[in-house]
Order: sequence, then C-alpha cells, then structure tokens
Amino acid sequence: MKKLQNILCIGAGYVGGPTMAMIAKKCPGRKVTVVDINAARIAAWKSDSLPFYEPGLREVVRDTIGKNLFFSTDIKSAVAEADVVFVAVNTPTKTFGQGAGRAADLQYWEKTAREIQDWATHDLVVVEKSTLPVRTATAMKRVLESGGSPYRFEVLSNPEFLAEGTAIADLENPDRVLVGSAETPEGLAAREAVVDIYAEWVPRDRILTTNVWSSELSKLAANAFLAQRISSVNALSELCEKTGADVTEVARAIGCDSRIGPKFLKAGVGFGGSCFKKDILNLVYLCESQGLGEAAAYWNSVVEMNAHQETRFVAGMLRAMFNTVAGKRVALLGYAFKADTSDTRETPAKVVADLLAEERADLVVCDPHALDNARVELAPHGDSVTFESDPYRAVAGADAVAVLTDWRQFAALDWRRVFDSMRKPAFLFDGRNCLDHKALFDIGFHVFAVGKAPMSHFD
Ligand code: NAD
Ligand code: UGA
Repeated sequence: MKKLQNILCIGAGYVGGPTMAMIAKKCPGRKVTVVDINAARIAAWKSDSLPFYEPGLREVVRDTIGKNLFFSTDIKSAVAEADVVFVAVNTPTKTFGQGAGRAADLQYWEKTAREIQDWATHDLVVVEKSTLPVRTATAMKRVLESGGSPYRFEVLSNPEFLAEGTAIADLENPDRVLVGSAETPEGLAAREAVVDIYAEWVPRDRILTTNVWSSELSKLAANAFLAQRISSVNALSELCEKTGADVTEVARAIGCDSRIGPKFLKAGVGFGGSCFKKDILNLVYLCESQGLGEAAAYWNSVVEMNAHQETRFVAGMLRAMFNTVAGKRVALLGYAFKADTSDTRETPAKVVADLLAEERADLVVCDPHALDNARVELAPHGDSVTFESDPYRAVAGADAVAVLTDWRQFAALDWRRVFDSMRKPAFLFDGRNCLDHKALFDIGFHVFAVGKAPMSHFD
C-alpha cells in the first residue's frame, strides 16, 4: 500500500485537534487536514484562542498550522483528497430509545460514515479514533460499502488514550499506540501504513497491533480499569473516615506493591470527564446485550460508587455545617473535571453545585479556565450562583470553601489571608486532597478531607 500522505480527521474536538496537530508536528512530510461541521470550532482552531485550554497545545498548533496542518469545514473536498480518514467524532451516551442511558449514541459516527461514502473518489483507509462499542468496524464497513459504492474501504481501529491536561505529553510520548485491523492481506497492509505514521516518532515496540475487535474493546477496558481503581480507592476512603485510617497512607502502602502500582489511587470527590462514565456504561450495555448480567453489574458498580462519592461529599459538608447551608456563602474552588483543562463534561463540581444550590446555599464558583462553561451549566440556578475568577474575592465572606479541582494555584494560595477574610467558623472541604491539612487546621480552619479523620476545633 502507498504511503498515507494526505491524512484527514473528521471531528476537531479534544481528540481530533490535538492528535492531528501532533501528527502534523512529527510528520512534516505529510499533510494533515481536520474538518468539523461546527464552523465556530474550526474558526477557533484557526484563531489565537483555541476551542479549549490544554497546556502546550497552542505551541504545537502555532508551529504547524498553515504548513502541513489545516482546519476546514469543507468535508467534501477533504474526503476527496484524503488517503486515510480518522474519525474522531463524539460518541456520547444515548439519551433516547433502546439502551438509553447506557449504549453509545452512534448517530454522529454513522453520519460521518455516510459523508465519507458520499465524497470518496477512490479506495480509502478509514480509522476509528473515537471510542466505539466492540464490533462497530463491521457496521462501519457495511455503511461505507452500501448502495454499490465502487470503492473499497478498509476499516481500522486506533483508539486514543490521551488524558486531558497532559494531552501533548501523552501524544508525544505514549505508553502505547494501538492499531487493530482485519487480519486479511488488505487489512494487514492498511495496518502497516497506519503504523508507519506513528513510527515517525513512537518507538516500534510501543506500537501494538491486534485484530480490530481487540483494539475496540481494549479502549473501553482501559478506561473501565482506570475508573475502577478510582472507585476502589474512593470506596476505601469512606471506610478510612469511619476508622481513623488515612486513605493517602493506605494508597501509598498498596501502591508500593509493584503488581498494583502507585498511579490512579488518589481518592477524591469522584471522577469526571467525558469518557469514564460513558465508556463504562457502554461496556455495561455490551455485557447486558450478550446476556452477561454479572459482568454488567460488576462494571456498573464502578459508576454507582462514583455517584455515591459525589453525593456523600455534599452530605459531609452539610453534616459539618450544622445540617444547614441555606443562605450560607460557599466558595467552590475549581469547576473543571480535573486540573489543566477547561473541560467540564461530567465534572463532579456540577453535582456538588447542584446539590448545594438545592440546599439554598449562596455559591460562588472560581476556576482559572472553566468559568465560561460553568456559567452556562449553572445558569438554571439563577442568582444563587455567582462566578469569580479571583480566588481571594471568591472566598471573601464565605462560611465554607470546597476545593473541587486540583489546580496548583489553589494549593499555593495564602491560606492565612483566606481564613482571615472568611466568616467564622471557617470550614474547609478538600475534595481533591491537594492541600496541607495540618497547616490549615493550625491556621484555624475546620478541615474535612476525603478519606481522613476530620480536623475540627469544636469540643
Ligand atoms: P468532542 O465533542 O470534543 O469532538 C467531536 C467533534 O466531532 C465535535 O467538534 C463535533 O462537531 C464533530 N462532529 C460530530 N459529527 C460530525 C460530522 N458528521 N462531521 C464532522 N464533524 C462532526 O469529542 P472528543 O472529546 O474529542 O471525543 C471524541 C471521541 O474520542 C469520543 O469517542 C471519545 O470517547 C474519544 N476520546 C476522547 C478523549 C478525551 O480526552 N476527550 C480521549 C480519548 C478518546
Ligand atoms: C481518561 C484516561 O486517563 C485516558 O487514558 C483516556 O484516553 C480518556 O479518559 C478518554 O478516553 O477520554 P481524562 O478523563 O482526560 O482521561 O483524565 P484522567 O486523568 O483519567 O482523570 C479522569 C478523572 O479521574 C478526573 O476527574 C480526575 O480528577 C479523576 N482522578 C484521576 C481521580 O479522582 N483520582 C486519580 O487517582 C486519578
């Protein structure tokens, strides 16, 4: 198969944009085009303010855009010119009909397949970059080759494992790249051609090749395993709070076991982000549709535990604050689902804000990059939520501060100044275990962290 010179990506989101920018940077000899139906998003990629905040992304785009990286809404010409099409459209959880609340909503993916079919002018390699249910490649091939298309489409799976906030480092130096294909001569040739793209910067031994079903399932499985670790440590955190054990110490002790490892054992207010919940629910649905009830229930419990962690965090706040927050000013430090991103999809901060607003607290939300999203998402609460980019102004006069995103700037605040500006008693809830609790207690705060004994000045 000839070199895949003209690379096209359909979907200019959190995955399509950064991934293609990195391919353009590392493969100066190839042309990379990213298209999207969302004209505003494409305009943002071409402007100085990218569609979302991601450390290091601006530099990579700046160095490649107009050279070998192009953004466009002209899907027709882009497909006609492409040698390979990566599909990185959104695959959210279905909200209607069969499988609602669990199955993947494949409407965007199928529309994309039809666009490729409509505009193709020659045989094409089509690569699933989106996270999809196992066996989607068969459906993709059927759509692409329906209606007597004169062209042949080889469908591969190349799931993306980047995490937001560290996307550039993850893409530059991935733990692995996974490419799955049919194990036919044509499938293997297409696989090799896609591997060649990554091999321009990723060591060959980190590029794994599998059959297409293993590749599709591995992506769901990886997210399920990562989320399962968080729910496991969060389940322990509740027991720690009851017994006097400290979850950070427990996590350290178990993480030292090389079979377990230290990463993804940080207890907190719960996992967020666009994918963990959706991908596990997708896995649950797949298990159910294969009649695997126990396996489905097992994975579903990871999501249930996460929801419990979010609500019990708020229950703990209420309990500590004499069972009422009505009329009290509560500053929420952080709204993004994790540090170093403006993304707020499935952020635990929204659950916390919704529950506190229901309790009639006066909320002030502070985040260095996610306030635009927060304003939209919390608009239904009207005047009971205000927004403040300066943390010191956010906490002034507050009865309580809850840290919901582990932005480094929050740990670096002058906490004595924060304390002095608050109403007393001053409550501090660290939903990310990212602060120095002993120092805060010594300043005078009543400190409540996740999975640790409360540090209270009462009694
Ligand atoms: P996103 O919503 O940010 O981006 C998807 C883009 O696809 C949108 O801009 C949308 O307008 C565009 N789109 C939808 N239908 C289209 C069509 N018919 N033609 C052209 N463009 C179309 O989503 P995302 O976060 O980038 O995720 C994309 C996929 O990658 C999902 O399957 C997700 O599970 C997976 N994934 C995401 C991440 C992540 O960190 N966000 C990481 C790994 C994998
Ligand atoms: C996650 C995976 O890490 C990526 O490999 C995957 O590609 C991506 O999902 C995806 O498919 O979308 P992401 O959601 O961007 O990446 O971020 P993570 O670093 O995984 O964090 C997810 C959530 O878990 C965050 O809310 C974070 O605060 C929380 N978390 C993470 C914990 O509560 N404890 C931890 O120890 C680690």
